[in-house]
Amino acid sequence: MIGCTDLEIQVKNFPERGFLVLPGFLPGTLVDRLMPEVDRWVDTGLRKLSIEACSLSEDATPPAVELEMAAHAELAAYPPLLELLADESLLGPSFVFHHLHSDRRPPGGAGKSWHHDYEQRPQRDRELPMVHALHYIGGLRPGMGSLAVLPGSHLRVAEKDEMSALGTARQPGEEVVDDLPRGSTVLLHSALFHTRRAARGPSGTGPRYMVDASYCRTGAPWPPVKPYWRAVLAVGRTLEPARGRWPELFSDRHFSPYAPSARRPSA
Ligand SMILES: [Fe+2]
Repeated sequence: MIGCTDLEIQVKNFPERGFLVLPGFLPGTLVDRLMPEVDRWVDTGLRKLSIEACSLSEDATPPAVELEMAAHAELAAYPPLLELLADESLLGPSFVFHHLHSDRRPPGGAGKSWHHDYEQRPQRDRELPMVHALHYIGGLRPGMGSLAVLPGSHLRVAEKDEMSALGTARQPGEEVVDDLPRGSTVLLHSALFHTRRAARGPSGTGPRYMVDASYCRTGAPWPPVKPYWRAVLAVGRTLEPARGRWPELFSDRHFSPYAPSARRPSA
């Protein structure tokens, strides 16, 4: 578990660096329930159907959304995470849930080029922060598909794919996260450039379980990324304890109308 002093330093530095790492942030009991939910989400085809629904009309909804799974719902509104996000160095006290993706990637999975995931069309400013929580449910080992970030790159206004021509190549100043215990979380300012390196094995590293959830400071309309975004938020509004302590967390009044995006964001 990360030490309090270390956490305080990371939080203080978040506005400048744009990320922080929380080894073993999630309790084992929650991780134990999340992993079979991810397996079911992937193995039954529900994940595939949820992706396919992104190309349908706003009236169409997939047979299930991630927040309907009990442990995923608990993760989205995990009180220690929300309290941390409420710090003024991250999102501040008023923020809204944006979306959540759940996935299990096989050993040897492909990488993802340098990009960021800040939702703004076109990209024009960084006045309101958006944060992605990358939950490495099963942990991360060298060779499993490491995360590399460019500290401070969120301060520059750029399109999401501005660095895509670089692929996943090493960059000056990058920092690599490749060894985390089970139930670890990385918080990224969503505009921070990052890449997922290809999983190179060795065999035995196992699949990479990851749930990513994102949250936005309120104050301007945010673009949704799924046509069925209202249905997701409606599920969120049924959750406890979110309704009491965090009345804006699943409110749909903080979003602009849905417009299809060129690609589906992911970590
Ligand atoms: Fe990403």
